[in-house]
Parts: sequence; structure tokens; C-alpha cells
Amino acid sequence: MSRGKGEIGRGEDEHDDGGGGRGDDGVKTNDSSSPSLSLSLSLSLSLSLSLSLSLSLSLPSLPTPPKKPSERKMGQAMGQDCALLEEVSAWVAAKTKLPFWAKLTPNITSVADAGRAALRGGARGLAAINTINSISGVDLETLRPQPCVEGATTPGGYSGPAVKPIALAKVAALAGMIKSEKGGKFDLSGIGGVETGADAAEFLLLGADNVQVCVIVFFSS
Ligand SMILES: Cc1cc2nc3c(=O)[nH]c(=O)nc-3n(C[C@H](O)[C@H](O)[C@H](O)COP(=O)(O)O)c2cc1C
Repeated sequence: MSRGKGEIGRGEDEHDDGGGGRGDDGVKTNDSSSPSLSLSLSLSLSLSLSLSLSLSLSLPSLPTPPKKPSERKMGQAMGQDCALLEEVSAWVAAKTKLPFWAKLTPNITSVADAGRAALRGGARGLAAINTINSISGVDLETLRPQPCVEGATTPGGYSGPAVKPIALAKVAALAGMIKSEKGGKFDLSGIGGVETGADAAEFLLLGADNVQVCVIVFFSS
């Protein structure tokens, strides 16, 4: 059977260990011949080149559980709670006429479920992935897990080339959901380990409308 650009047959959702995620059918076909490149500026709410907002619902380093009663969940913890993700997206949708993309965490059973929630809340598109929870090692002299700053350790966020295969799978799952359930009407930004044009092409072929780069900028500058 011949396939259109970006179609890889039945693209499966990320492995679901009972969290209720649905298998995602197919991968979104990309008809755009001139994908735009949107640069992530490491801001939680940043203005991208396409005059849309990026709403980060996925920062791993924010406090969980909340420190104040007024804070329910923040950053990644918010992005792991589909009801809250939908609620926060709806707040933003009510406050701005600019389209916004919800930036999702990969640290969740079904990224497609998170994407559905953000779109229900009013997001015009989705962006994935943010960083992956990680402990970069254990210092065998101090016996402290890394990263460790002034004696304090917290899990860090893994990014760069090593996360690309995971990012590609999450993007494929989101593209399949957007195509099969939403008629392809929402934008998808692929993020994670993009270093070269070939990397970007892989994301586009799996259904992303554009790509973003982050950590390679640090190494290249
Ligand atoms: C030093 C650093 C700071 C980051 N800050 C943010 C941030 O403020 N908001 C956000 O949504 N993502 C942030 N990220 C995540 C990146 O935007 C991106 O999603 C992730 O690093 C994967 O892409 P990459 O492999 O191209 O780095 C940060 C990543 C790094 C490495």
C-alpha cells in the first residue's frame, strides 16, 4: 500500500500501563511546504515567531507539592493532571485572543490524553516534549545524587540528542490524535534533540508542523 508523506501506518500511542490512553491511529500528513522554525526562548510564556503563545505546562523544576495553599500544582505536576491542564488552558484562552500552544511533559503515561485536555481547554496547538525527569548520576565520593547544588539534590530534566527517539514517539502519538480525532485542525510543534535539518525532517515526517531547538543552541554558541 502506498502512503502519503508522514504516514507510517498505525502509529501507536506511547505504552499505556492502564492510564486510560487510547492507541492513536496513524500519523498526521503534513502538507505545508515551508515549515516555520520557532525558537524556544526558555520562557514559560514566550512569544514565538508565529505570534502565538507557548504555554509551558511541563517545567520539571517547579515545586511539587505546592508550598502555599493558593498553589495547587505547578509546572510538570500541572501538566500531569489532565483536569487541571484543561482548566489552565481555558483560563488562558479566556484572557487572550492570540492562539497558544500547550507545551506538554513527556513524563506522563499518555501524552495524547494530556494533548486532548489542552485542546478541550482552548489551546490552538500542542508542543512536545519538555525535558525528561532524570538523575544524571551519583557522585561516588559524596554519595549524593546529581545534579547537586550546595548539598541539595533534585531530579533534573534530560534533553538533547538522547531524548530524540522519545520525543519522536510522543510527537507521533500527538499527530495521530490530532489527525484521527480533530481532523488535523490543530498545530503541533516538535521538540527534543533537534540538532540538524535531518532531525527536523524526521519530526515533520511524523506529523509536526514545525520544530523547536533548545539545548543545541547552548552547545553551538
Ligand atoms: C537549560 C534549559 C532551560 C529550559 N527552560 C525551559 C523553560 O523555561 N520553559 C520550557 O517550557 N521549557 C524549558 N526547557 C525545555 C526545552 O525548551 C525543551 O523542551 C527541551 O530541552 C527538549 O529540547 P532540546 O532537546 O532541543 O533541548 C529548558 C531546557 C533547558 C536545557
